[in-house]
Amino acid sequence: MKIQIFTLSLLCASALGASGEVLDISTHSTSLVLNAVEGSPLKIVYYGERLAPADLDAIHEATGMWQDAYPAYGYNPKAEAALSVTHSDGYMATDLAVSHTARTSRPDGSTLTTVTMTDRNYPFTVDLFYLTRPGSDVIETWTAITSDEKKPVTLNRFMSGYLPVRQGDVWLSSLYGSWANETQLTEEPLPHGVRMIKNKDGVRNSHTAHAEVMLSLDGRPSETSGRTIGAALCYPGNYKIFIDTDDGDYHHLFAGINEENSAYQLKKGETFTTPVLAFTYSPDGLGGVSRNFHSWGRKYQLHNGTASRPVLLNSWEGCYFDINEPTMAGMMADIAEMGGELFVMDDGWFGDKYPRNVDNSSLGDWVVDTRKLPHGINGLLDTADSIGVKFGIWIEPEMTNTASELFEAHPDWVIKAPALDNRGSRGSTQLVLDMANPAVQDFVFNIVDTLLTSYPRIAYIKWDANDPVNNAGSQYLTSDRQSHLYIDYHKGLLATLERIRAAHPDVIIQACASGGGRANWGLMPYFDEFWTSDNNDALQRIYMQWGTSYFFPAVAMGSHISASPNHQTFRRIPAKFRADVAMSGRLGLEMQPKNMTDDERRVVRRAIEDYKKVRHIIQQGDLYRLLSPFDRKGVASLMYVTPEKDDAVFFWWKTETFMNQQLPRVTLDGLDPDRLYTVTELNPIDRRPLAVEGKTYSGRYLMANGLPIPNTHDVEYHQNTDYASRVIRLTAKE
Ligand code: DGJ
Repeated sequence: MKIQIFTLSLLCASALGASGEVLDISTHSTSLVLNAVEGSPLKIVYYGERLAPADLDAIHEATGMWQDAYPAYGYNPKAEAALSVTHSDGYMATDLAVSHTARTSRPDGSTLTTVTMTDRNYPFTVDLFYLTRPGSDVIETWTAITSDEKKPVTLNRFMSGYLPVRQGDVWLSSLYGSWANETQLTEEPLPHGVRMIKNKDGVRNSHTAHAEVMLSLDGRPSETSGRTIGAALCYPGNYKIFIDTDDGDYHHLFAGINEENSAYQLKKGETFTTPVLAFTYSPDGLGGVSRNFHSWGRKYQLHNGTASRPVLLNSWEGCYFDINEPTMAGMMADIAEMGGELFVMDDGWFGDKYPRNVDNSSLGDWVVDTRKLPHGINGLLDTADSIGVKFGIWIEPEMTNTASELFEAHPDWVIKAPALDNRGSRGSTQLVLDMANPAVQDFVFNIVDTLLTSYPRIAYIKWDANDPVNNAGSQYLTSDRQSHLYIDYHKGLLATLERIRAAHPDVIIQACASGGGRANWGLMPYFDEFWTSDNNDALQRIYMQWGTSYFFPAVAMGSHISASPNHQTFRRIPAKFRADVAMSGRLGLEMQPKNMTDDERRVVRRAIEDYKKVRHIIQQGDLYRLLSPFDRKGVASLMYVTPEKDDAVFFWWKTETFMNQQLPRVTLDGLDPDRLYTVTELNPIDRRPLAVEGKTYSGRYLMANGLPIPNTHDVEYHQNTDYASRVIRLTAKE
């Protein structure tokens, strides 16, 4: 029987435009316009530059995109859809029409616009949400899908959002990569057919591709100009972003949870809420979109995003699993002596029956190995206190090993189908705990809660996750809900993180996942930062950090000075260059300081001293990317500017060396043309200061001409290397 439940009316029509049909979702500089006519499909009419009221009316009456705002499989089945449902009677046609709209101003100043769309034939509704926040040009959209059908329905596809983009000369910028080579940039004109970016790891989702894209509407992407749209799916699990270009006028961008092997069943009365798709528009090219994401992220998405981050030493590359009290104390003393503020003890500190000496045992047994640390964590905290640094600790709470007391007690807690063996990947024995299981959620919450309540002096947690789902299947979910595994895993993870943050809002937590496997905005409300990559080679980091900066601010990007030769590439890079690259993110160290030469120590000490003076600019300032390493011009360069434009830090790194090479002069950006800026080089190593040192130039001059930067450093003959880099502060005169 077909049920007609279309009874609601437009609630606040007067707020929505003269005709009651136009939903104007504007931010400071952008407008999204929807056409919401009761009983008709919701249409997206416009997205881009903020519209004047006159244009808003004209668009409503005439031009505009007029694409379905949330296309569902049913009518027009040849097109891609955001939603595909098998209804309780077995039919797959969904026919959504607007039944209700509402706009709510929330106490935090944000505005939530809700459009309820009801199926004409089934008691099945989709609420489509658009959230705008003060001072931000990012719009967040998501949906809540509710079934009141008597029998279960199956959601076959359930995207977070859809955006039509007019065809023309549209280019896609996206990030691909791999472990130790994350966030490589690719730019391509959008082809006909489908361009798919996806992840199916189950646990980590930003190694091989990233859940964020930019679309440059006016041809080849530019940093400074051209209408540009950016979109980021805020979700830590399997995702899919695809752009379908068919024979119509539009590219069709869809982003959401990857529905492959994840069909989701809804019983009567159940609601499925999709993750947020955050999108923005800027006429100022890629740089404009990045700055929109950075300021939105710091203010609204990143945990404690506006707070400054300490300079730290992480023990991993310094001693790997070889944790013991003298080594920890030595590292703490060394980082304190160099001006650092925090020490993080990485993997290897735990395990009783199964000591964690290599990577094939002990995960889940979160007890101190007193053979290595006889005075326990309190002993380490006392040492840290006496030295004057804060203390942090590594955990990997979602994982276990077959060689662990946890696995012996709870073999049913790991992810695997009954028919499969426990095949691990890291160390051949590592397994993923089933976060869909509430008992596992409690266990994970308790690991963190117990650690932080037993040792309230712990200031930082590095939360790692080093395995994908290897053996598909949940021992917790019933057989009819096995396809919920990936989604329920991440629901469970997010719910657990929510509990952890409610209890422990102040501890700094880093999201790490085999390096940069968890750089995604969906996790960032619970994390203060992410680990960018297990590759700390400064040269390769320039590329990875460049890609990362497309969507994430420096404050969130762990960036460490490591040893030379580097442990991943074996490249030998002088300390100055390593420091100058690491300073462009959240600065830290990842090495055994006792192996540093006096020269290295001096350079790093000065880098930390200088970084502390300018970190508010780097961590909280506006990013201007000036010359891309991917352009292969021999130099990469970027700068950060305070929002007041009264202080800036300029980074310049040579990426290759050839004799008599003409390196391009880099022009600056983001300064106030009418202010005068004084030049101070940070952490200089040259015998003579730069010719421009202490001189004052107008912002106008600097943005038109840049600064002359020598190709090499002026150092003693034996200190010459093939590396050169500069960090320059530009301070506006009062
Ligand atoms: C992977 C991380 O990315 C590393 O930084 C380190 O914490 C190791 N795991 C420890 O096992």
